[in-house]
Amino acid sequence: MFAAYVLCLLIQPIWGCHEMCFPSSFKFGASTSSYQIEGSWNVSDKAPSIWDHFIHTQPHKIEDYSNGDVACDSYNQYLKDIEMADHLGLDYYRFSISWPRLLPEGFCTKISKDGKQYYDNLINGLLKKGVQPLVTLYHWDLPQKLQDLGGWANPEMSEWFADYADVVFSLYGDRVKLWITINEPVLICDFTYNSGPHAPGIDEPELGPYLCTKTVLMAHAKAYHIYNKKYKPLYKGKVSIANNVVYFGAKTDDDKEITDLCNQYSYGRYLHPVFSKRGGWPPSLVMFMNKISAEGGHPRSRLPSLSKREIELIRGTYDFFGLNYYTSRLVRKARANETSEKSPRKLLESRAIFEHYPNSTEGYPEPFSSYPEGLRNTINWVRKNYGEQNIIITENGYSSFEDDLNDYKRIAYIEKHLEQILLSIHEDGAKIFGYCYWSLMDNFEWTSGYTPKFGLYKVDFTDKNRKRTPRISSQYYSHVIKSRSIDSKKFISKSEDTL
Ligand SMILES: *[C@@H]1O[C@H](CO)[C@@H](O)[C@H](O)[C@H]1NC(C)=O
Ligand SMILES: *[C@@H]1O[C@H](CO)[C@@H](O)[C@H](O)[C@H]1NC(C)=O
Ligand SMILES: *[C@@H]1O[C@H](CO)[C@@H](O)[C@H](O)[C@H]1NC(C)=O
Repeated sequence: MFAAYVLCLLIQPIWGCHEMCFPSSFKFGASTSSYQIEGSWNVSDKAPSIWDHFIHTQPHKIEDYSNGDVACDSYNQYLKDIEMADHLGLDYYRFSISWPRLLPEGFCTKISKDGKQYYDNLINGLLKKGVQPLVTLYHWDLPQKLQDLGGWANPEMSEWFADYADVVFSLYGDRVKLWITINEPVLICDFTYNSGPHAPGIDEPELGPYLCTKTVLMAHAKAYHIYNKKYKPLYKGKVSIANNVVYFGAKTDDDKEITDLCNQYSYGRYLHPVFSKRGGWPPSLVMFMNKISAEGGHPRSRLPSLSKREIELIRGTYDFFGLNYYTSRLVRKARANETSEKSPRKLLESRAIFEHYPNSTEGYPEPFSSYPEGLRNTINWVRKNYGEQNIIITENGYSSFEDDLNDYKRIAYIEKHLEQILLSIHEDGAKIFGYCYWSLMDNFEWTSGYTPKFGLYKVDFTDKNRKRTPRISSQYYSHVIKSRSIDSKKFISKSEDTL
């Protein structure tokens, strides 16, 4: 702590340090996920995931008709990934494990020798460089075999996920101390079933999203309890879930009620059962779902009920709060003559209109408009609703369709978001212990293919070895990590020289 403080003093004027410096305990990381980087979709005994199946059967669903068959080739190039993490000076490297690579049968009946070895090599290589692995168990690449049995709409999935989690904890728990069970349930359930843009591409908005929500929460909770009972006493690690939250702010006081319902529908549905003191679904969501279910002629709510036992099983299953933040929207009530058919959540959206914040800067793809203040607002919304949390930003990142190595806009994006984190810590008293930039390198961005670039490192996808090249933002980020301050002047003045 003292050393970092002195370092700050050397770099910053004294009066700026308190506000501008990260606490010495604050950790910096960068994130990726298995399908987006690994490639080698069909090597050894690996079974197809829902993304392999979806892309090979419906290639037109991807903007540039690309796929993750090779991606960044990290299955073969992982030593370069470790080297990049080391060069940046990362505390954490967040990656995910491919379920069908580790368990080719989907069930824990068979562990792949090669799959197991790959993650052993990656974890050991990181630790050798002093980089802590932050491991996600599920970042969307479900074994296709389990999808054939209903996927997340089948309640049994929670058992199969718990079995998988048990295997992963038993294999790597001695070395991995930070775990995310499931990444962005809202994308897994809502973005899939509401209109089907993501694998498995099932468009079933009536019950799909809600069956999925319950199963995902039960799966997370069962995995959490397995770790808590069997592995925590041995390894003393921590487990949570990572949720994506788009900050919704009311445009006027008159729009507060609809804004709150949008928040509870979109995010409270996933957060309240786990993080609130009482557990269970958010009460306003239950009322809303009862009402629209009855109006639609359903004999019971489309939102599955949670029994007392289930509420207790899910409640409190976290050791920290994983937050993915990219963007925000202003919400206002729709006027009588206005309907919004843009998004699948038609019921809510016919009553609410979502606008980009006037101060936000353009994003690419378009939904990713940048509004850094929204990060601080989200953190305060979380604290207000669920009490003080130990928060880590598990994802936040800038994407562009420019391949440029001189990515000054990315530097500005990172600086502005980190500034909001500093304000949250120093002005609001929030407990935030880390930040993971998305992404370490350019990778396969789902339905947008390889067009958007998120990376601190550029990846040449035409090169057989997927050559990685550092962007200026990687120098800036490693400067932030070393100096524990966000000042980008040195880098921006460079930009003025070259522009
Ligand atoms: C693996 O998939 C690639 C296409 O991505 C194909 O060219 C290759 O033949 C496949 N290998 C095996 C062993 O099936
Ligand atoms: C809807 O009504 C408002 C006034 O209430 C008007 O300004 C707007 O142009 C109308 N929009 C459409 C699409 O008719
Ligand atoms: C927009 O930016 C202006 C000027 O920087 C600031 O005064 C205002 O509070 C911002 N509004 C929002 C909603 O962030």
